[in-house]
Amino acid sequence: MSSNLLLGKPVAEKHYSLMKKRILELKNKGIVPKLVVILIGNNPASRIYVNSKAKMFKNLNCLSEIKKLDERVSKKNLLKLIEELNNNKNVHGILLQLPLPKHLDSNDFLSKINPMKDVDGFHPENSGLLFQGNPRFIPCTPLGCVKILEHYKIDIKSKYIVVIGRSNIVGKPITSLLSQPFKFGNATVTLCHSHTTNLSSYTKLADIIISAVGKPSLIKNDMVKNGCIILDVGINRINDSSDKGYHIVGDVDFPSVVEKASYISPVPGGIGPMTISMLVHNTILAAELSTK
Ligand code: GUN
Repeated sequence: MSSNLLLGKPVAEKHYSLMKKRILELKNKGIVPKLVVILIGNNPASRIYVNSKAKMFKNLNCLSEIKKLDERVSKKNLLKLIEELNNNKNVHGILLQLPLPKHLDSNDFLSKINPMKDVDGFHPENSGLLFQGNPRFIPCTPLGCVKILEHYKIDIKSKYIVVIGRSNIVGKPITSLLSQPFKFGNATVTLCHSHTTNLSSYTKLADIIISAVGKPSLIKNDMVKNGCIILDVGINRINDSSDKGYHIVGDVDFPSVVEKASYISPVPGGIGPMTISMLVHNTILAAELSTK
């Protein structure tokens, strides 16, 4: 079987052109959507993500600012910054880049971001709304996965989906999202994780596999059925002798799994561009909600 690639860039581009109209409408009301990203410490991967987010905001004539904080920032000072941003009318979206340094617990801060500016959808109010089937901000990667499946006309209704990885960023929200009775929903979803015994007994039955673990080559050829659809959300750095010194791979052993899958998202170039486009979408939504 030869796979079709689920490329994120053309889908993200389609969504950017839809967003341009909304950005213009806001501009006519004197509003320019603005995101502030809080970046703590020197995690190289986080720095790359944050810079590519900022670049996209600039391309769309939206505003973004990166607040860089020292690795050793205190809880008090981080809370103070969040409070300032919550109260700043010109800031529509606040994103606290994860992971945080070990001395800080993300739950202590995500719950302090104004839920109307929580473009990540990680505030308990926003995760609760999603869980109840009445979402406000849907986390960017899960929403990006839905949009890429929709674009490639992959219906998920009544399909069996196996999600691997139970993070608050991807695994938990996407499990809720895909099983909701939405127009694009109604799938049967199993959430597998590090304590799941015999992972392949689930993946072998799956119509769609979504892997968001961060483990290279986790999903191999003998773990998937013929014709399955694979969304690879993993982003893993592999050191090599190239000029950059590394390359990026997903969770899926692409060369072997591509033989069996009907559709597969590559890494890089699959879900990554979708995540960024949905962050812009959520920031525009936050700006729109601020006018209501
Ligand atoms: N780190 C990796 N992915 C994400 C994300 O979607 N949001 C935030 N805030 N941090 C991340």
